[in-house]
Amino acid sequence: MSQTPQLVAAAGDSAGRAGPLPRLARLAYGGDYNPEQWPESVWVEDVELMRVAGVNLVSVGIFAWALLEPAEGEFEFGWFDRLLDLLHDGGIGVDLATPTAVPPAWFRRRHPQARLVDRHGATLGGGARQSFCPSSPAYAEASARITEQLARRYAGHPALVLWHSHNEYGGANALCYCATSAEAFRAWLRDRHGDDLDRLNASWGTTFWGQRYSDWAEIEPPYAAPTSVNPTQQLDFLRFSSDAHLANFRRERDILHRLCPGVPVTTNFMIANCKTIDYWRWAAEVDVVSNDHYLRAEEPDNHIELSMCADLTRAVAGGRPWLLMEHATSAVNWQPRNIAKRPGELRRNSLAHLARGAESALFFQWRASRFGAEKFHSAMLPHGGTDTRIWREVVALGADLPSLEPLRGTRVVADAAVLWDWESWWALELDWRPSVDLDYRERMAAYYERLWRDRLTVDFAHPERALDGYRLVVVPSLYLTTPAAAENLRRYVAGGGTLLVSYFSGIADADDAVHPGGHPGALRELLGLGVQEFLPLRSGETVRLGADGDDPAGELVGDVWAEVVVPDGATPVLSYLDGPAAGGPAVTRHAFGSGHAWYVSTRLDAANLAPVLRAAYRDAGLVPPDGAPAGVELVRRAGADGSRFLVAINHTDREVELPGTTGTDLLDGSFHRGACRVPAGGVRVLRG
Ligand code: GAL
Repeated sequence: MSQTPQLVAAAGDSAGRAGPLPRLARLAYGGDYNPEQWPESVWVEDVELMRVAGVNLVSVGIFAWALLEPAEGEFEFGWFDRLLDLLHDGGIGVDLATPTAVPPAWFRRRHPQARLVDRHGATLGGGARQSFCPSSPAYAEASARITEQLARRYAGHPALVLWHSHNEYGGANALCYCATSAEAFRAWLRDRHGDDLDRLNASWGTTFWGQRYSDWAEIEPPYAAPTSVNPTQQLDFLRFSSDAHLANFRRERDILHRLCPGVPVTTNFMIANCKTIDYWRWAAEVDVVSNDHYLRAEEPDNHIELSMCADLTRAVAGGRPWLLMEHATSAVNWQPRNIAKRPGELRRNSLAHLARGAESALFFQWRASRFGAEKFHSAMLPHGGTDTRIWREVVALGADLPSLEPLRGTRVVADAAVLWDWESWWALELDWRPSVDLDYRERMAAYYERLWRDRLTVDFAHPERALDGYRLVVVPSLYLTTPAAAENLRRYVAGGGTLLVSYFSGIADADDAVHPGGHPGALRELLGLGVQEFLPLRSGETVRLGADGDDPAGELVGDVWAEVVVPDGATPVLSYLDGPAAGGPAVTRHAFGSGHAWYVSTRLDAANLAPVLRAAYRDAGLVPPDGAPAGVELVRRAGADGSRFLVAINHTDREVELPGTTGTDLLDGSFHRGACRVPAGGVRVLRG
């Protein structure tokens, strides 16, 4: 008799194409389960405890290749059969991983040419994970074989609800510079540049520094070299590398779709931390988006970064539900100082992901390891067992989740969009830029933090995606701006939108060539200005910004960057009061069509951004909710049936009151009229 609840609706079809994104049939709770570390008697206790904790989904097999195929072509599935049966009997669903992130030791020995090589030509060692070349034909063959074996054997297993391909593609072996990779890079380039070497030469600007190629065989990956390597060569290598991993994912996914139609396939992303994978491209390839998130433990208010990652995950998922595949119950083990979560933090973190579109709270890992590299990583079941704070919090969260079922299928209501683009990130941070302090993710985080603190909810968007419907669009340092993206932004503002662009945007095209006509070439007309000169600041140097006649107390402070901005239609709003651009405009506003385009030419932190954003909100007709105390996270959700929810997460250590809120809290059933108190460190999910 089938014990395993159906967690995920079917996706995909017999032709192997991904169907509509599946929707979870209930919120999933659980995590990575690596029972191969324990005798089977422990598995029985595990399943009993999983039931106590309300676990309904575990990811298994992620690192089990060496145990499932102990010698090439010899398979041992007995233990795995018993495991899946045990989980099924316990009512626990299985997210079944292909174990291809760690090829067995025999593979490494037998296929030395499949080893990972860094840009200095050093071959990287084994005894680790993901130490293989992503372009290796031997790896392709071996990973396809184990994937096929698993798919054939478990396609009909009643515990199976989801396939989990690999683990964190591009994590440790993002870039490989071995001879096989070099060959694959050349093949990829022929494809990208229409098998036309002249086109590649033009795209890479090889007439500069005498780099012209006359034969494809002359082209190399960007090895370590005595000077900066051609930037477009570097950019194309990053594109190629993301695609090389994607080819590995597609191979596995297609096998799984073919042999196991109807069961969705995911792979766990590392959004916002993994620079080397273009998740916009990847998200279109998975049946359901899933993400891993680990707090930056030492950063104050790191829950804001969590929100950013959750919003970005929802964005690449196209606004549809996504899975939080991994996070930690407390400390990780791989940061310099692995700060433990404080009581209640685990619950707030999980519920913040759920508020922003996740339909699961899954962890790495179920039971803390006794040995190996991650034994000091927290788990759902700590080394100390069940008489521990973490276990009690895990059980309490598992008990909370069913009450949040009404959130499923509702959508996050966003106030503004922020543009995010991996290619632009890559290009912005190549070497020999005007300043080493140009930092894509830092700019994202600062603008995001400002919006978060103003309690506005953000959708991230690709620069070429239609932006109608957003009152405000923020563009932090979109260095690489394609003509299509520029046209998209022009159309958006002309149609009445409010746009806010930060410095070093609109500078280069997809080949990393500077747009003609002076900076910021792609956005000059829209912003109503030219940037005559970049004026990067010295380390620690600051510049003051103010408006004529302003109270000096209201002055803003920027750092890292200044510019000579020459208005051509735009109105200066704030000027540089000192520094290399003294007297010139620092922040401008341009009426364009029916909308407005703002420009911020220096680096302002989240606090200094407040008055600038406030002014832009006025143009956008956005009124940030006031009255809510600082440190309270608010997310609104709306259902197609007209239902409305407000998730309020109190990140402070005192009780707060939210005025103007009426509704019933899904978590404890309490009813609130006109105002609602949120306990210190607590969460309310009000249905209004
Ligand atoms: C993830 C990885 C897991 C585990 C975890 C620890 O990146 O997928 O296997 O290592 O980190 O935080």
